[in-house]
Amino acid sequence: MSTVSTLRPFRAFPSEALYGNVRVPGDKSMSHRALLLSALAIGESRIEGLLEGEDVLCTAAALRACGVPAERQSDGSWQVLGRGVGGLKEPSEILDLGNSGTSARLLMGVLAGQPIRAFMTGDASLNRRPMRRVSEPLSRMGVTLALRGDRFLPLLLEGPERLLPITYEMPVASAQVKSAVLLAGLAAPGSSGVIETQATRDHSERMLRYLGATVTDEAAEGGGREIRVVGERELKAKDLTVMADPSSAAFPVAAAALLPGSELQLPAIGINPLRTGLYGCLAEMGAEIAFANPREQSGEPVADLTVKGGRLKGIEVLAERAPSMIDEYPILAVAAACAEGRSVMRGLGELRVKESDRLTAVAEGLAANGVTVAIEGDDLIVEGCGGRVPGGGLVATHRDHRIAMSFLVLGLAAEQAVTVDDVTFVDTSFPGFAALVTGLGAKIEAAS
Ligand code: S3P
Repeated sequence: MSTVSTLRPFRAFPSEALYGNVRVPGDKSMSHRALLLSALAIGESRIEGLLEGEDVLCTAAALRACGVPAERQSDGSWQVLGRGVGGLKEPSEILDLGNSGTSARLLMGVLAGQPIRAFMTGDASLNRRPMRRVSEPLSRMGVTLALRGDRFLPLLLEGPERLLPITYEMPVASAQVKSAVLLAGLAAPGSSGVIETQATRDHSERMLRYLGATVTDEAAEGGGREIRVVGERELKAKDLTVMADPSSAAFPVAAAALLPGSELQLPAIGINPLRTGLYGCLAEMGAEIAFANPREQSGEPVADLTVKGGRLKGIEVLAERAPSMIDEYPILAVAAACAEGRSVMRGLGELRVKESDRLTAVAEGLAANGVTVAIEGDDLIVEGCGGRVPGGGLVATHRDHRIAMSFLVLGLAAEQAVTVDDVTFVDTSFPGFAALVTGLGAKIEAAS
């Protein structure tokens, strides 16, 4: 999984309205957590709707290497035989987390609570992403960590016999850091937690509670929220259903919003308010988006989404909104490029350390397709074309699934076809993306 030698370029052609009722794959964040928390629970779990993208398969493979059976069943569900907190085995192989930051960072938290040694690595993109943000709190809990250059994978992690509980003030708004501390905290005496000044996705907290853990979320003394988990308690295995991924739905939804006359229905989309920032933005831009039949699925709110196409206008998105749509800025920038007027997206520093430097990749991709765009500090400014963008460009995806999908959507709403240099990494989060969008009436195909 770490070496990919051949590029798979794809091209998206100007398309008319999209129609259909489609289910997008399971939520990536929830799928990782379903596997990891089921592994830490006692007993057998059945997981429905697990995302079978490469990132999640990396988490499953790492768990198997640590002695946790985690297998797909013939009916498409997944079965995990939980070993309990502290019950994982020392892996005899290097854990390769491929392109997946969530696998690497959450697994660091899980392994912190096992008195074992593990080596972890990833692909060229993951091995460039910052890991100090997780190793820092874990070393305060007593974990021994050796990172390449003190910051990066590959790393060696050695869990202590007994972890120390901590309260960690998070310097970055990151659900992965929060989750790593909470997962490690399951093995520590007393309670452990984080203080976050900006709320980040709370899927770990919700699933921990669902499996019987005690998780508290209170106002912190100096401001922000303090989120804690009580350690040394058993988690009880329970069946889980994974919601459809709102971050994956974002691509067909934005495409439909940009193509007048479109109408799509997407069932059981996760509507956790810490994930739906993009939908609020699209609605403010004038898109017709409605959620019906709200309900709960394994501790997460879901609803059936309908979107209709029309004309969009530019928007200003303040930095406070970033955690609720951190993965959606590339597709929002594409929508902004087709909107009427200027859009300004503020406080996007974290985009520089995602699967690629997304801030630069988005700006370069838009410029290559005739859109006027600028980066000022951590802000992105896009001058909307008020309809179809010129297009005709070649976009460098930098091994980044969301850059690839965003610019394929741009091609649908362009005057001339848009080519992306590689769609290999789309499979990390959205296997079947091109077929799904094609089935709605879009024209996307392999390019030479
Ligand atoms: C994720 C958190 C976010 C997000 C990533 C998934 C998670 O990362 O970008 O795709 O599942 O916790 P950060 O925690 O780095 O913001």
